[in-house]
Amino acid sequence: MTDPGWQELRFSTTPDQLENLESWLFEQGALAVTLEDNADEPLLEPGPGETPLWQNIKLVALFEVGINLSPILANVPQQWVTAAADAANFVPDQDWERAWMADFKPLQMGTRLWICPSWCDPPDPHAVNIQLDPGLAFGTGTHPTTAMCLAELDATIRPGVTLIDYGCGSGILAIAGLKLGAIKAIAVDNDPQAVTATRDNAQRNAIAPEQLDVFLVPQADNQRPLQPVDWVIANILAGPLEALAPTLIDLLNPGGRLMLAGLLAEQAAVLIEVYKPWVALRAVQEKEGWTLLVGEKLPH
Ligand SMILES: C[S@@+](CC[C@H](N)C(=O)[O-])C[C@H]1O[C@@H](n2cnc3c(N)ncnc32)[C@H](O)[C@@H]1O
Repeated sequence: MTDPGWQELRFSTTPDQLENLESWLFEQGALAVTLEDNADEPLLEPGPGETPLWQNIKLVALFEVGINLSPILANVPQQWVTAAADAANFVPDQDWERAWMADFKPLQMGTRLWICPSWCDPPDPHAVNIQLDPGLAFGTGTHPTTAMCLAELDATIRPGVTLIDYGCGSGILAIAGLKLGAIKAIAVDNDPQAVTATRDNAQRNAIAPEQLDVFLVPQADNQRPLQPVDWVIANILAGPLEALAPTLIDLLNPGGRLMLAGLLAEQAAVLIEVYKPWVALRAVQEKEGWTLLVGEKLPH
């Protein structure tokens, strides 16, 4: 390596300390800060307004080569980091960008669907292509729970259905549903960043504004009660899925399909029991310890 373009410092931090750490690093001369999931814990429930969607965050700060990083490493307030920073790495300019981008490649979901980062040409221009870049909202298709929902949508959605993506994150499921034939989708989340990300991603994917309503909950419930739909998809976590059972059931037309993800295989039995009065849920897919439950709402 003859001409290093950048140096990087890597820190581990938590959502509540992220903003402090990020601002401080910019004050120290960081040119860019990027975030990565730091553990196999991609599902979490940030309070409204909180920034990150991971509990355990790896922050990578990029500095010009001329900057002395030793004082930064020595002076970083220890209450903002959960692990000592890695030593500085020199990263050639082009390689750094390529390394980051190389993590995100087009992914095929099911048979018809591809999720493509904006810097890649879709491998199959005739497929159902969704353009999505990694951002602050959860949902690029790389997580098994999202991947299972997408494959199930691809395999079973009927043209003309209406759907709700409850806990929409990036909006990936609502956008996929629409691209696969739904006529109308509603995307809701309790995180304003997810609402913004979903609107941006919908626009980037040429979703007509009248096809997708995006709401922040619980405000959405108060201001404009959501109408029941044919499909409700919720990829959250077992706890909220249990608590949200009456809400999700109310949002579903009789005979409509409920799809629940974000639960581990060992949590399936409890959720099946909770939803039993309204929906006979069954496990239809398992991936890396996660389970996808699907069922139709009973007619009463
Ligand atoms: C695992 S992400 C799923 C994102 C996307 N639907 C996907 O499948 O990749 C869960 C999302 O649910 C949201 N969420 C968590 N609890 C919620 C709740 N009680 N009501 C609405 N959204 C919630 C989170 O903010 C997050 O965006």
